[in-house]
Amino acid sequence: MQVELTEEQRQVQKLCRELADAELRPQARRWDAEHTFPREAVKRLGELGLMGVAVPAEWGGAGMDAVSYAVAMEEISRGCAGTGVIMSVNNSLYCDPLLKYGSEEQKREFLAPFARGERLGAFALTEPMSGSDAAEMRTVAVARGDDYVLDGTKNFITNGPQADVILVFAMTDRAKAHRGISAFLVPTDVQGFSRGRADEKVGIRASGSCSIFFEGCAIPKRYRLGGEGDGFKVAMSTLDGGRIGIAAQALGIARAAYEEALAYAKERHSFGKKIAEHQAIQFMLADMATELDAARLLVWRAAALKDRQVRHSAESAMAKLYASEMAERVTSKAVQIHGGYGYVKEFDVERHWRDSRITEIYEGTSEIQRLVISGAVLKD
Ligand code: CAA
Repeated sequence: MQVELTEEQRQVQKLCRELADAELRPQARRWDAEHTFPREAVKRLGELGLMGVAVPAEWGGAGMDAVSYAVAMEEISRGCAGTGVIMSVNNSLYCDPLLKYGSEEQKREFLAPFARGERLGAFALTEPMSGSDAAEMRTVAVARGDDYVLDGTKNFITNGPQADVILVFAMTDRAKAHRGISAFLVPTDVQGFSRGRADEKVGIRASGSCSIFFEGCAIPKRYRLGGEGDGFKVAMSTLDGGRIGIAAQALGIARAAYEEALAYAKERHSFGKKIAEHQAIQFMLADMATELDAARLLVWRAAALKDRQVRHSAESAMAKLYASEMAERVTSKAVQIHGGYGYVKEFDVERHWRDSRITEIYEGTSEIQRLVISGAVLKD
C-alpha cells in the first residue's frame, strides 16, 4: 500500500503552499477582522485552476483528481480558512454535482465559468427549520407551464452573498417525502429571488453566508438538475464529496495552529529554558502531530476511493468526523501553548481555534457523521 503523493499531487501541494504563504496568510487576520470577502484571492485561485480542481479541462477546470483537491484544500485552508470554504463550496458542492448530473447544455451554461473562477456557485439545502433532517425541507417547486415556481427560505448559505448561481433543493411532491425532492440551478438575478444580510459569524469570516428567499421565483424547467424526485440523492452523494473538502479544510486549520505553536514553543522561555524543553509541552506537540497525520490518512483514503468511483459515504464521514474534532483539539492546544498570547488577536491561533469550530457543524454535524458511519458498520 502506498501513501505517497504522485509528482502531480506534490506540485499542486507546492503551488498551493506558496500561494497561501505569499497571498493568504499575510491578509487572513485583516479579512477576519473586517469580515471581508477575499475577491482578489478567489480570482487568483480561479486563474490557477483551483476553483474547479477535479473538473476536466474541456469544462474549464484543472482536470486533476480528488486527492489533489484534498491536498489543495489543506494548503489553502492553512493560509486562510474562509478562503478554503469558498473554494470548497464552489468545487465540491457546485461544480461536482453539475459534472455528475448535468446535461451537456447545463454544463455549457453553468459549469465552465464557475470552474474557471469567473463566477461563483453555492449550494442551498439547509432551511431555518431543517438542518440535520434535510428531507424535512419546506421550500417547494411547483411545475407551471415551461417553468418551476419556487417558494421558501434557505439559510446559512455559504457563498450566498456573492453567488451567481445556487444549486437549490426543493419539494416537487411532498407526498413522496425525500423521494419528492428535486434539485434546481437558480441564477441569482432572477425575479423572486432575494438575499438576507450576511451572517455575523464566529469564524471563517472571510467567507460570507446568508439566508436566501424565493417568492414566486420562476425558473425554466431545463434548469432542473437530474430527474424530478432525484434531488435527495443528488444532495447526499454531493455531500459525500463535500465532506472530504471540509475534512481537508479542518486539517489545514489545525496544521496552521500546530506550526505556530511549534515555532512559539522553540522561542518562549519559562523556568530557565525554552518551553519546548518541558515535557508538558512536548507531549502536547506529540499528540498534535500524531492526530494531524491520522486525519490526513483518513482524508486521503476517502479521496482515493472517490477517485476510484467507489461509494465512500462512510469513509468521507469518518474523515470529516475525525479531522474536525481533531482540529478543535489541536487549535485549543495551540492556544494553551501560547498561554495569554493565545487569547489575544496579536497572534493567529485564536482565529484558528474559532475557524475550527464550524467544521464540526457544516456539511453534516459530527452527530450526522456518526449516524452515517454507524449505519454502514451495522449493515456489514
Ligand atoms: N448517496 C446516495 N444516496 C444516498 C446517500 C448517499 N450518500 N445517503 C442516503 N441516500 C439515499 C438512501 O439510499 C435512501 O434511498 P431510497 O429512497 O432509495 O431508500 C435515501 O437517500 C434516504 O436515505 P436515509 O433514509 O438514510 O435518509 P434520512 O432522511 O434518514 O437522512 C441523513 C440521512 C444522513 C441524516 C441526511 O439527512 C444528512 O446527511 N443530513 C445532514 C445534512 C447536511 O449535511 N447538511 C449540510 C448542508 S450543506 C452545508 O453545510 C454547506 C456549507 O455551508 C459549507
